[in-house]
Amino acid sequence: MAALHPLIHVYRDAGQGHVFEYFDTLTEAEQRQLLLEASEIDLEELKVLSETLVLQKKALDTNSFEQLKPAPFESLPQKGGSAKLWALAREVGEDALKAGRVAAFTVAGGQGTRLGFDGPKGTFEVTAIKKKSLFQVFAEKIKAAAKDYGKVIHWFIMTSQQNDKQTISFFQEHDYFGLDFERVHFFKQGRMPAVNFEGKILLESKSSIALSPDGHGGSLRALERSGALNFMQKNGIDTLSYFQVDNPLVRCIDPVFIGWHLLRKSEMSSKMVPKAYAEEKVGHFCIQNDKLCVVEYSDLPMEFQKQRSEAGELKYIAGSIAIHILDREFIRKMAKADKGALAVLPFHRADKKITCLDCSGNIVTPTKPNGVKFELFVFDALPFAANPVVIETERSEDFSPVKNAEGLDSPKTCKEDQMRQAARWLKELGETLQVDSAGLPLVNIEISPLFGYDFFSFKKRWSKLKPKPSFSKDLYLT
Ligand code: UTP
Repeated sequence: MAALHPLIHVYRDAGQGHVFEYFDTLTEAEQRQLLLEASEIDLEELKVLSETLVLQKKALDTNSFEQLKPAPFESLPQKGGSAKLWALAREVGEDALKAGRVAAFTVAGGQGTRLGFDGPKGTFEVTAIKKKSLFQVFAEKIKAAAKDYGKVIHWFIMTSQQNDKQTISFFQEHDYFGLDFERVHFFKQGRMPAVNFEGKILLESKSSIALSPDGHGGSLRALERSGALNFMQKNGIDTLSYFQVDNPLVRCIDPVFIGWHLLRKSEMSSKMVPKAYAEEKVGHFCIQNDKLCVVEYSDLPMEFQKQRSEAGELKYIAGSIAIHILDREFIRKMAKADKGALAVLPFHRADKKITCLDCSGNIVTPTKPNGVKFELFVFDALPFAANPVVIETERSEDFSPVKNAEGLDSPKTCKEDQMRQAARWLKELGETLQVDSAGLPLVNIEISPLFGYDFFSFKKRWSKLKPKPSFSKDLYLT
């Protein structure tokens, strides 16, 4: 009888021997595949996660919120912030861009289950007239900003094992949307196994483990592991503009935000929007034990979310919209932190419906959650960052994600928000165009990021445009 592969012994010792239950029935190629996947898993880490997050699912300790305070933030100048400081921030940010210190950084490894779109989310079409994909919108914003600042802007895109090939092919098929392909860098995030409620690893088939992306927080270690940080260092890049793949409104390259980050010598900075209403499902910027953090809506008791100041404003008003600036060496520090060290991102538990083998070896698709996935969140790095700064932004200028197929944060709301933005910019420059009571123009309008990727750049190009177009029919500005 052939000796058992050493990894199988390790799995048996760890109480996860069932992963190899069908090993002898597999072809050689399947066996290799299973062993490869099994070698990806850190069983010690998994044991700790299962014990702490699955077997003794920690009940929420509301006492831990006793020390909680709302986080301070820099208000916009029109809301009482110092116009002088905001102007200074723009100058500092522009200088950093002109010096080539800034790169764009997109996390695009998610599964997009809520949208239900078959393909990498970045390939989803979002604009009103030209039906540009999310990736194209970002590529054009980056290209236009690079032209304005006279410096190359590298773009780092995190993919997952599931969507890496398709994402890269999409860029190739579209000639990188006019970007130099050597300046677009893809890197894959890590994976974590799903477990059942007893902490046992789930199998996707007899020859594969149910593995899924390790969350957007996995981007920090993936950047380090892929060599991207060393590349940045060699190329004089020390500042990363982080955004998520589902939000085409984001100012991917925002000199003011970059400037605030640099002025404050911050290691990780964030944008906030005032929450629209108490129950709004966003994370909250808070201070806990003197550290900045984001407390998720599902973790913050509703009585806190409803608290108001004497002036009647929500106390926990600062909503997180997942837009950050990160310092390169801070990412390295977080990525390299040893397990057990204090500066390590915690995993979160997510109960999910996971298609997997049942105990008789049949593949089942459950109708209710049957297991747990583990995910890292990028905002969990905030408490470890020196001098973190939070600045206010207008939601309508930075945030309209495509999360759901319908309703809130859907393709429809996102398209409308883009058109509202176009109408607002035109009106601000004195144009008269008809909009409905919600600010939506009566004709479709799309502004190519190559024409204007923020109000500032739009204003410059619009003022030079002669003759000005009419707004009597659909309008695409490029
Ligand atoms: P979401 O939290 O919206 O998750 O990701 P999702 O996987 O895209 O969508 P659902 O929840 O399945 O519907 C927010 C951002 O984080 C990225 C996503 O690509 C998106 O840009 N992300 C998420 C990753 O890059 N990796 C992950 O493991 C999870």
